[in-house]
Amino acid sequence: MPYTLKVFESEEAFDRAAAEWVAARVRPGAVLGFATGNTPVGMYRQLAALHRRGEISFAAVRTFNLDEYVGLDPADPRSYAAYMREHLFRWVDIAPDAWHIPSGAAPDPEEEAARYDRLYWELGPVDAQVLGIGGNGHIGFNEPGTPFDKTTHVVELTWQTRLANAGPFGSPEAVPARAITLGIRNIMEAREILLLAKGAAKAEAIRRALREEPGPGVPASVLQLHPKVTIYLDQEAAGGVV
Ligand code: F6R
Repeated sequence: MPYTLKVFESEEAFDRAAAEWVAARVRPGAVLGFATGNTPVGMYRQLAALHRRGEISFAAVRTFNLDEYVGLDPADPRSYAAYMREHLFRWVDIAPDAWHIPSGAAPDPEEEAARYDRLYWELGPVDAQVLGIGGNGHIGFNEPGTPFDKTTHVVELTWQTRLANAGPFGSPEAVPARAITLGIRNIMEAREILLLAKGAAKAEAIRRALREEPGPGVPASVLQLHPKVTIYLDQEAAGGVV
């Protein structure tokens, strides 16, 4: 399998390496694919620091985020739009119209998914895609069972995902039941992919993604079929594979 895997001993080294992977691909005209969630928070902090030190500029890049909750306005602090502003975009020189994320406030989520998909193929595909992984093996919000040829769509989130993402909502019941996500087909179009995983809760998903036959039961297993994947793990997440 053509992937590169690195295991990091400290979170600081992990975050710095992830930021450097992205920074090396921040060049005029680049299209970057970003993920949200806990895992890349430190990576974004390091990217903001690289920008502050004058080492990178986002002035001529465009970005696509993977997903957004249906029903959350971009101004809602729990939205992924707010996450991206808070963790990266307010700290760097990206143009306001150069970053893209599905709108959780769109009156017709299906139509919004179709609009976002059209935009993805118009401006993309992505040069470099950062991914996290769910404890159930999801990438983006492509939950287990999602066909590998699916493009951007509205998804019913699993209870496991709502449980894992309950933090800012107070309870899993309060996590939106649906999201708009780029599909596996979109993700696989990226020229290069960086998959990030931290913590023991990801070890089994990583093991299955890398060791089992690729299949929709473990969405991240599709990455075995991609020609250029880099995987950064901490020691806990690497428990099942090294
Ligand atoms: C987020 C996303 C998800 C997360 C995954 C891991 O945009 O697409 O696939 O990457 O749920 O989330 P954390 O990092 O919070 O464990």
